[in-house]
Amino acid sequence: MLRRIAFINEKGGSGKTTLLGNVAAFLALRRGRRVLAIDLDPQGQLGKALGVDVHGVRSSALDLLLDSVLGDAETEAPATRPAASLPIVATRIAGLDLIPANKSLGLAPGWRPGGGDPTESLARSLRRARELARYDFVLFDAPPSFGPLTLNVLRAADELVVPVPLTYLALDGCAELMRSLANVRSRYGHAGLRVTMVIPTFYRRTRLAHETLERLKTRFPKEIAHTVVGFHVKLDEAQSRGLSIFEYAPGDRGARAMAALAEELETRAEPTPVEAP
Ligand SMILES: Nc1ncnc2c1ncn2[C@@H]1O[C@H](COP(=O)(O)OP(=O)(O)OP(=O)(O)O)[C@@H](O)[C@H]1O
Ligand SMILES: [Mg+2]
Repeated sequence: MLRRIAFINEKGGSGKTTLLGNVAAFLALRRGRRVLAIDLDPQGQLGKALGVDVHGVRSSALDLLLDSVLGDAETEAPATRPAASLPIVATRIAGLDLIPANKSLGLAPGWRPGGGDPTESLARSLRRARELARYDFVLFDAPPSFGPLTLNVLRAADELVVPVPLTYLALDGCAELMRSLANVRSRYGHAGLRVTMVIPTFYRRTRLAHETLERLKTRFPKEIAHTVVGFHVKLDEAQSRGLSIFEYAPGDRGARAMAALAEELETRAEPTPVEAP
């Protein structure tokens, strides 16, 4: 059973990439899960954090949004369609693969040849990809601003993990995301899309952080994570070396927080059935 989970918040710098990279590493390293991480952010930081040379790769997430994967296969009979080949690269961690992104993703066209809907490209590429059967989790790293890439992510995922920094504007970003979620549910008929977990990040012992946390708990009583992520400088250091926290500083409190969240993600939500390719 494959779970497709997007780490998303329309607010930038909320901890999406850091959480995704480390949760993915924990699931692969410590839980023996097979994880495919897909970067949909032109900043390419997920690959960099996982030690991949994102500028040197021959193909990348951009190919998922272009004809190179899709071809005209949607018009062919399913039996004669070639299986799509995803631009996957292995990471240093066994069981954790990556579809990297780099700046070129910013050039993803807002149109599709033949006039199809450009916000469906990612979902369509993945529908055709037989390689997905190898994985337990597909984790999408979303870009910080709303646009066609974000819509592609929302249409390809079944579950959302929403990191929320405990700062003044955080709840505003969250409200924007909930509007996008409602829109994708109704407009594109993706009724099953749901928020699995809301993760408070950058917690400090300040009154503002406490107030924001209380408001988040009220707004998302079921979805709020049991673990709150504080400031852990080792998380930043690990990323600068292209390592997960479990390789760089496994005893650090940041590692404990990431591990707890990965375990919580595993236990939350029923896995969703894989769509037939
Ligand atoms: N818990 C933490 N403690 C300390 N530093 C952190 C923590 N989480 C993330 N960081 C650092 O904060 C910065 C922003 O985090 P990150 O890149 O994960 O956010 P993001 O939501 O993916 O950002 P963007 O919206 O730009 O993609 C990074 O430099 C990262 O290393
Ligand atoms: Mg990011």
